[in-house]
Amino acid sequence: MNHFELREGELYCEDVSLARIAEAVGTPVYVYSSATLERHYLVLRDALRDAGLGEPLIAFAVKANSNVAVLKTLGALGAGADVVSEGEVRRALAAGIAPERIVFSGVGKTAQEIAFALQAGVAEINVESEPELKLVDQVAQGLKTRARIAIRVNPDVEAGGHAKISTGKAENKFGVSFAEAERLYANASNAAGLKPVGVACHIGSQITDLAPMEAAFGKMRSLVERLRRQGLAVERLDLGGGLGVPYFNQPEPPSPAAYAAMIARVMAGLEIQFAFEPGRMIAANAGVLVARVQHVNARPEGRNFLVLDAAMNDLLRPAMYDAYHDIRPVRPRPGAAVTYDVVGPVCETGDTFTRDRALAPMQAGDLLAFMTAGAYGAAMSSEYNSRPLVPEVLVKGAAFAVVRPRQTYDEMLARERPAPWL
Ligand code: LLP
Repeated sequence: MNHFELREGELYCEDVSLARIAEAVGTPVYVYSSATLERHYLVLRDALRDAGLGEPLIAFAVKANSNVAVLKTLGALGAGADVVSEGEVRRALAAGIAPERIVFSGVGKTAQEIAFALQAGVAEINVESEPELKLVDQVAQGLKTRARIAIRVNPDVEAGGHAKISTGKAENKFGVSFAEAERLYANASNAAGLKPVGVACHIGSQITDLAPMEAAFGKMRSLVERLRRQGLAVERLDLGGGLGVPYFNQPEPPSPAAYAAMIARVMAGLEIQFAFEPGRMIAANAGVLVARVQHVNARPEGRNFLVLDAAMNDLLRPAMYDAYHDIRPVRPRPGAAVTYDVVGPVCETGDTFTRDRALAPMQAGDLLAFMTAGAYGAAMSSEYNSRPLVPEVLVKGAAFAVVRPRQTYDEMLARERPAPWL
């Protein structure tokens, strides 16, 4: 459920018309609904609670939407943050998320990033390999502290989804095998700079089937039990993110309640603190990208191009993953649907959002919205083709605020300087 709906023939975000935002801020622009963000977080929290999983840490995956206002909205409800870089640690802290609710993941954290995270006091560093374990130990010893770590396991399950976002197969770069996890956990418990507190896994993103998760989680439970039998303390089990969302044409993903019930079944009787790292299921349907039609280019030989002012640099998912986003006119015109190829102005064929999409008839100047763009939308945007970074707006009820202004060309150019010999 989300808070984008037609009211008297016009698409609204909560109580604000998207056309009004487009007038005020210009296009392209990302628009987020506070009510949807809050609802998704609370539905997940309550589902986990109701299934008897206690008060787990729900660490929002900052990579999905790193805007500080979005993080603050979630942080105010008690969300933590799953981060993968020093930049994301800084964003989470800037949003007021307590370091004890921050989990640091990623396969290639640098010594500087690890030191920064330890000094900030993050709850846990998810370690993905033996060399990384050694590095965290060294850095922590240098700082005369002990790093709370979790070992990230690669459960070697096939989770479907797009190959570029599947992470849980043995051939992927993430995590260590179960056998390695046991060895590293035992090593870590003897290392002066480490305090192993748990184990973690994440099998991929946009998963619309609970079966691979259930298989992975069952293996994780057995690992916790094996470690405990060896006398090792395991406080925390981090089950990653990954529950998919409906991108309109896909099978309906499992509900948070079904997800929570599955976990409760797999984990029955296990005393442990659970942690989760959801990104997409919280943010995706809480955001849209609003764009304006520049031209309707009807080719005599048949194809009908809708050329927008938004491009692949603003929303990369279709170009990168062949992702499908529902497209809704902001003020749908009456008349029979027309089939369009929807494209951006960037100079490459990959800058195509979709082909052969039937939409209400559109004219130059019309606004449309890419739905389900609140996760991995603005967060993956760039300035390719020297297009200023797309602005972001947060709506709450009848109010809206620009939470990342459109960058000016002066700001873009001010970051660069000539080499001394030029
Ligand atoms: N935890 C870890 C360790 C992750 O690698 C990820 C996502 C998440 C949590 C959050 O997963 P989610 O709940 O959002 O599925 N850019 C791609 C998605 C990449 C996901 C990478 N890892 C896309 O636009 O589909």
